[in-house]
Amino acid sequence: MSRRRVYLETFGCQMNELDSELVAGQLRTLGYSFTPEAGDADVVLYNTCSVREHAEQKVWSRLGELKEEKRRRPGLVVGVLGCLAEREGEDLIRRMPVVDVLCGPGELDKLPALLDNAVRTRESLMADEPDDDRLRSARQLALQGNTSRRSATLAAAGDSLELLDLSRSTAATGDDGPVRKSAYVRITRGCNKFCTYCVVPFTRGAEVHRPPQHIIDECKRLADAGVVEITLLGQTVNHYRFEHGAAVTVGGVVQPQKGRSYQGGHRRDPFAGESVTTFAGLLARIHEEVPHLARLRFVTSYPRDFGDDVLEVIRDHPRICRYLHVPAQSGSDRLLGLMNRGYSVGEYLEFLDRARAHLDRPEEGRPLMISGDFIVGFPTESDEDFAATVSLLEKARYKNSFIFKYSPRPGTVAIGKFEDDVPEAVKRRRNNELLAAQAAISSAIGAEQVGRRFEVMVEGLSVREQKRRRGPSCDTQGGVTLTVGGRVPSACGGGVSHAEEDAVESRESTPQMSARTDSDMIVLFDLPAGESPDAWVGRLVPVRITSATALSLHATLDR
Ligand code: SAH
Ligand code: SF4
Ligand code: F3S
Repeated sequence: MSRRRVYLETFGCQMNELDSELVAGQLRTLGYSFTPEAGDADVVLYNTCSVREHAEQKVWSRLGELKEEKRRRPGLVVGVLGCLAEREGEDLIRRMPVVDVLCGPGELDKLPALLDNAVRTRESLMADEPDDDRLRSARQLALQGNTSRRSATLAAAGDSLELLDLSRSTAATGDDGPVRKSAYVRITRGCNKFCTYCVVPFTRGAEVHRPPQHIIDECKRLADAGVVEITLLGQTVNHYRFEHGAAVTVGGVVQPQKGRSYQGGHRRDPFAGESVTTFAGLLARIHEEVPHLARLRFVTSYPRDFGDDVLEVIRDHPRICRYLHVPAQSGSDRLLGLMNRGYSVGEYLEFLDRARAHLDRPEEGRPLMISGDFIVGFPTESDEDFAATVSLLEKARYKNSFIFKYSPRPGTVAIGKFEDDVPEAVKRRRNNELLAAQAAISSAIGAEQVGRRFEVMVEGLSVREQKRRRGPSCDTQGGVTLTVGGRVPSACGGGVSHAEEDAVESRESTPQMSARTDSDMIVLFDLPAGESPDAWVGRLVPVRITSATALSLHATLDR
């Protein structure tokens, strides 16, 4: 078999980024290679997101662009993976016959077989006449579908998917980039919360928790391979709870969920210990059993699921980062009810107080930073509701917030039950007002950091530095990750030769680097003259903050 070239572009959340990494690793071991140019590829894959209409539109327009390409090269295989594939199902192929492969996020372990079949089917279609037949979809589908959702046995489906996570390569390197220093590790798949606006429980299915030993082994292997920082992933990551003693299968563990879970406030899980690994227990075990891992993070947290046990574990284990991403979504109790979020504004604020009392230690260089998500323009949102949201955002003092205009999603409760009655112009205005309120808080928080010392992890060249190196005329192509450490991506005008790269290097002896505090604040500093950016990626270095903007802190090395 000739080495098939794959172009893989990822949309959406960190979960999708991890899925793409695992899929790429698996395809590489099967002999596929990767190209940053869709035009060079034999297989084009889009790993898609469905969370808002805008996210879907990007994919539709990419697929539209491929029509002409496929007419020219009928052998091209096109695959749509991820949440849009799962949500749209076969309708997607009816709308876009250019698509040959559909693979939902719960079925990614089946992708190699689907691709293989699709390549063969395309070959036989190409042998056919008339021309139209050659452009027919090869129709290879793997979707969870509605039938299996929310059933108690769904966890068994997680077993074969577990093999995908277990297949992870230990090399921790990209195709030709430097050794990776940060990695994601999944601890929970799916979501059981069913917030009324959200498509995720439908696209990712029911919550399945991975066995703790699998997670710890993966963290160990990554740390052994040079990874400095691991971010644990789950849609409601702090809801993690693994009941031991369930039947063990080849791929992992069949894990029936009994529905017992922590319900907020100070309560602790009464079953924690031998028979149950809680989120707090998992964090403590990773910290103890992977001592060579410098930083442990997790996203996204659900406000209601934080017991004191988790906060105490973070407080008592120095390598767990003091950063919590805990979306509130709205500051109006009425809207939180319509959203089915299961907490009130009062409970949310009580949680923030508890978290800060346990973890906020700015005088020790360890402030607790919190970030949030908000949806503006949810159905029936009034000016008063919105004012309550602004007020919550100000009281919470988020380091940063992700703010979204409500987007009605097919299949959700909200689209069926509530009219999307907030006009687009009002959504836009509220979006801008909330952004402005957040910018003021971010600036104030930034200013408080001036003069403080932090240990930061160096991530790579700053965005400004990357742009400068790319030059004014070159835009990045989607799907190309700008690798840290100064390698200029080949998507840039057909590639930059090493000689040119060297010239860029020597023109500027002190490149600006980007780093992060453990509380997730971005810190920019100039590299000492003569140092190689690559050699600094992944280092933990002390800095002193000299100035601040709403988006980042500027610092000097403090040695
Ligand atoms: N599991 C995470 C969030 C996953 S989706 C949590 O519950 O916090 C990421 C964010 O997208 C959400 O926090 C929400 O703010 C936003 N979002 C989800 N569905 C949306 C919709 N239909 N319209 C607008 N924003 C939405
Ligand atoms: Fe969606 Fe709510 Fe689950 Fe987050 S918790 S993924 S917003 S349903
Ligand atoms: Fe999008 Fe699916 Fe993630 S809908 S946000 S890619 S879970």
